[in-house]
Amino acid sequence: MSDAVKVILDCDTGDDDAVAIMTAVLSEKIDLLGVCTVQGNKGIEYTTENTLRVIEALNADVPVFQGCPGPIASRLLYSRHGSFSGMTGVKEDVKNEKGEVISYHTDYLPLPKATIKKQEKHAVFWLVETLLASEGDICVVPTGPMTNLAMALRLEPAIAKKIKEVVFMGGGVNVFNSTGASEFNIWNDPEAAEIVLQAGIPITMVPLDATHQANFDLEDCRRLREIGTVAANAVADIMDTRIEAYDLYQPQATLHTAPLHDALALSYLIDREVLQDLHFWRVDVDISGGFADGATLCDTRAFTDLPRNCTVALGANNERFHSIIFGLLERQKRELEAA
Ligand code: RIB
Ligand code: CA
Repeated sequence: MSDAVKVILDCDTGDDDAVAIMTAVLSEKIDLLGVCTVQGNKGIEYTTENTLRVIEALNADVPVFQGCPGPIASRLLYSRHGSFSGMTGVKEDVKNEKGEVISYHTDYLPLPKATIKKQEKHAVFWLVETLLASEGDICVVPTGPMTNLAMALRLEPAIAKKIKEVVFMGGGVNVFNSTGASEFNIWNDPEAAEIVLQAGIPITMVPLDATHQANFDLEDCRRLREIGTVAANAVADIMDTRIEAYDLYQPQATLHTAPLHDALALSYLIDREVLQDLHFWRVDVDISGGFADGATLCDTRAFTDLPRNCTVALGANNERFHSIIFGLLERQKRELEAA
């Protein structure tokens, strides 16, 4: 693991978060130091249990730290985020032929209930301690609302200089989901995202514009079931759920496909070619609570008022992304068979 990239994942697990965690655990190019959990796709108890399920299913020796159960400020005004969940049109009364609500994320992942336990320490305190004690060689990969990282930065601003790079899944330039102007991770906690963007950390944004160019399809699900391991079957189940939800709520350019947002963001630390059409812009988050609340505003002008702060990926190489995911799952199968 000597030349592996040291990574801390910060997830609202969530089914595409689960695939990001699997990818990090299975890749020899990633040294996964720990996974922090945050509310987002589901409440903190669900996202923590789901994270533990993934870690245990892979028999991984990776600690899980439970983080913040809610956004920093965006829910203080009921009128601001109100009851809108941000989950892009999911209707509790729309059921599939099995009588299940059609949604992007099931409450619990299709993996055995976890028997391993989360760490006692809160994710925010663990982030501060771990980053301060580090050589400045850790990459932080938020795949949910950035509440934990923002709170850690507020608690101890010195960690900003100890973070090698942040690669976050979130935001939208021309593609949105939670509202007509925002993406869910940022919309859920806009203040947190702006705190991270202003912290002076080398940061790459992996928005919906990129993740929607790296979709999986039903043939992929068949290939995954051919691999047939617990992990591969879980990814196939996850993709079936996601494709059903995307066909209904966010039909993709190619029908019967769905993105794996978070796994693409993590994969950038395995293969830098997996993201394309990168731009170094000034990016800020609208925290005004208006129609564009939670929007990632990219200043693309030649002379920006504020210093440029964020590399933004507008594209993805789906072939390379697929080879990472299938390569890791097929290798894990060989290793399990050889054991
Ligand atoms: O908008 C997509 C993002 O929101 C993904 O990270 C998904 O897991 C949800 O957190
Ligand atoms: Ca997520």
